[in-house]
Parts: sequence; structure tokens; C-alpha cells
Amino acid sequence: MKNGAPLLAAIAALGSAAAAALHANPAIVGGLATIALLAIAVYAGALALALNAPSDLSEPREPCGPSGAPEPVVTRGGLFGRMWVAALGAFALAGVVPLVSLGRRPRRHGTAWTKGARLVTPEGRLLRPGDVAIGGIETVFPEGHVGSPLSATLLLRLQEGVVSLPPERAGWVQHGNVAYSKICTHAGCPVAIYRHASYQLYCPCHQSVFDVIFGARPVAGPATRPLPQLGLDLDDAGYLIARGDFADPVGPDEWWRTT
Ligand code: FES
Repeated sequence: MKNGAPLLAAIAALGSAAAAALHANPAIVGGLATIALLAIAVYAGALALALNAPSDLSEPREPCGPSGAPEPVVTRGGLFGRMWVAALGAFALAGVVPLVSLGRRPRRHGTAWTKGARLVTPEGRLLRPGDVAIGGIETVFPEGHVGSPLSATLLLRLQEGVVSLPPERAGWVQHGNVAYSKICTHAGCPVAIYRHASYQLYCPCHQSVFDVIFGARPVAGPATRPLPQLGLDLDDAGYLIARGDFADPVGPDEWWRTT
């Protein structure tokens, strides 16, 4: 067991690092890291027992070369020491790989929204700014892409002037109409409940709450990122259109982290 433990630790730690690099299920990454940690603990325990043993672990080998010259002495302690260093090195690598992916910005991913795409209801009806009542909410898609999962968007109509957005998003609201991705940034559930009295959107899966006044920023629950906003404009016929794709990737960050 003492021989196999550092080898097992190294293999499990390397497996954990590879799984993290490939963005495998976190349970696999954590499970392999746990195995590596346990193997290191077993090895450390065995080593401690050996150090307390009365006999020396070193086993000098007799010279056997044709010249009779002394050969380097190989000891079990030295061999175990190198395996110990390899196991700890692999374990350190397993810890570094997830940290690298933490620093990686999620890549923006295209939905079906493009500049000038007209907003339509699931039935395909075009929308003008006054079509949704103040306090109302409507699920919309880009024209020609009804049902496109990543493009599902919530169109809300608030009183004019209540939305507070960064200066670079001035003009993204049209007569009180504001649009955000319908896909929760926590785990990807559809956000579907709106309370106009508090200007808050609720995700039913794990109770994340988003403040639509301030760019759908999360104010409660496990979500840490706002719902991406879709900039709105009007075409010549007065219909609501998109200024382009969402400002940020839709859904959980994990969907867009790539190697
Ligand atoms: S998926 Fe929305 S809170 Fe978890």
C-alpha cells in the first residue's frame, strides 16, 4: 500500500487536473482530487510509521558491474521520496488548473439576435412599444427564430424614466420597454415570474431575484451575474427591433468557458 499510494495519488491528481481542463462534471474533478488527497494521507501515515520502525529502510546493493566499481546506492527511502514529490506535484497541478479557468472570461456566444431583428411574440406577432401594458411582460424572439432556446427574451414595460442603466446603454430602452435574456445566469432555468411592484424578476428554480431597474442585476439567490440585456430600438415602421446580440453571454458562465 505504501508503494501504491503515491502512484495512485499522482494518477488521481493528474486525472483531476485533466478533468478540470476539459470542464468535466465538477463531481468528477472533486472526486479524483479527493482520491488523490486520501492516497497522500495514507502514504503520509505509512511513512510516519516507517520512521518509527527500529530498522533502517536503506538497503545498499552490492556492486555487480564487471569493473567492480561501486554503483550508486538505491534506497527505498529515496524512491519513496521521489514518488512523494511527484504525487504532491500532481496534486498542486490539480489545484492550479481550476484556478486558471476561474480567471478566464466567459466567451460571448451568438444567439439568433442580430442588429435590426424585429421582436415577435411566440405566435409571431410584431410588437410596437405600446403593445405591452405598463407592468406587463412578454416572451419574445427574433423574427424568424421563434423557439430558439438561447434567444428567448423577456420584454417588460415599465413607466418611462424609471430604468437606471450605465451611460453606454442610454437609448436601449424604448418608451419604457426593456428586454433581458430569459435564461437564468445561475443554472439556465427560464426566468418567468415578474412582480411589477418591486420591479423584480424571479427564477423559480433556486429563487434568484433580478432587479430590472438596474440592468437585471441579481439581488438575492445564487445567481451572481445580471441577466444579459438586449438593446432595443425602433424601425421606420415603429416596431421594436434589437440593436444587436445580447451584451453578455446568456445562461450560466459554465456554458461558455472553453479551453
Ligand atoms: S437556475 Fe435560476 S436560480 Fe438557479
